[in-house]
Amino acid sequence: MIFYFSGTGNTKWVAQQLAEATGDTLYYIPDELRKGKLHYTLQPGERLGFCFPTHGWQPPHIVREFIKNANVNLNGNYIYAVTTCGDNMGYAMRILNKELSAKGLQTDATFAVLMPESNVCFSFLHLDTPEREQQKITAAREKVAHICQVVKDKQQGVEELIKGAIPFTYTYVIGGYYNKHLITDKHFWVDEDACIQCGLCARLCPVDDIEGLPPRWKHNGSCTNCLACYHHCPKHAIHWGKMKRGQYLFNL
Ligand SMILES: Cc1cc2nc3c(=O)[nH]c(=O)nc-3n(C[C@H](O)[C@H](O)[C@H](O)COP(=O)(O)O)c2cc1C
Repeated sequence: MIFYFSGTGNTKWVAQQLAEATGDTLYYIPDELRKGKLHYTLQPGERLGFCFPTHGWQPPHIVREFIKNANVNLNGNYIYAVTTCGDNMGYAMRILNKELSAKGLQTDATFAVLMPESNVCFSFLHLDTPEREQQKITAAREKVAHICQVVKDKQQGVEELIKGAIPFTYTYVIGGYYNKHLITDKHFWVDEDACIQCGLCARLCPVDDIEGLPPRWKHNGSCTNCLACYHHCPKHAIHWGKMKRGQYLFNL
């Protein structure tokens, strides 16, 4: 069983590689939350994987909500987690491990994979150049092949993370503020002259937070700030605050 979340496709690709290598089934976390019945029983020998992007040096809100509400019956199973990040993930895995262990789940192996940047919400951050994107994806292919092997072999005690220089400050100080105040839909707006009213943003929103044409955000606290709406818009008609940034989608 592999539970994953992805806004722009980076983590989806990693999760798909793991599914191919192990034969394990992929579960998209937003679909599981929509179904509402979060009871899972693993067979003996089955692996349990969690794949998620790092958001503000923490796991995304939607992933944390899923873990909080899921009930997993284990049979001595191997458990691993992989996060993708554009730069570094701070102590995101520490938070994940703490929340998993509250549910009786203990990871045997944890990994981070450096992938192209998708965040357009920080003034000091820019998307990668196309050259840098390709460099990251080339290195990630090798890294993910290695992770697949470790997970297939069920190696224990593996910790291959990219914590950055000051992980505590990233995750608990800057990330703490970011996750408390900036994970919100209130900064999204639509350029109505550019919008072609295709409805793709609403269809892709993992928390069904967008309605109407042209799109409007519901402001009901459900947004997880994955930026799927922003990056997938075929006309780049969706913007975040005053930020002038490009778009990114995973592409091999
Ligand atoms: C809202 C938001 C916050 C992010 N925060 C971080 C971060 O703290 N550290 C980092 O290295 N990358 C950060 N990123 C970049 C993503 O983690 C990275 O691009 C990831 O691979 C995207 O995965 P996805 O395509 O599966 O959504 C952030 C991206 C978004 C959208």
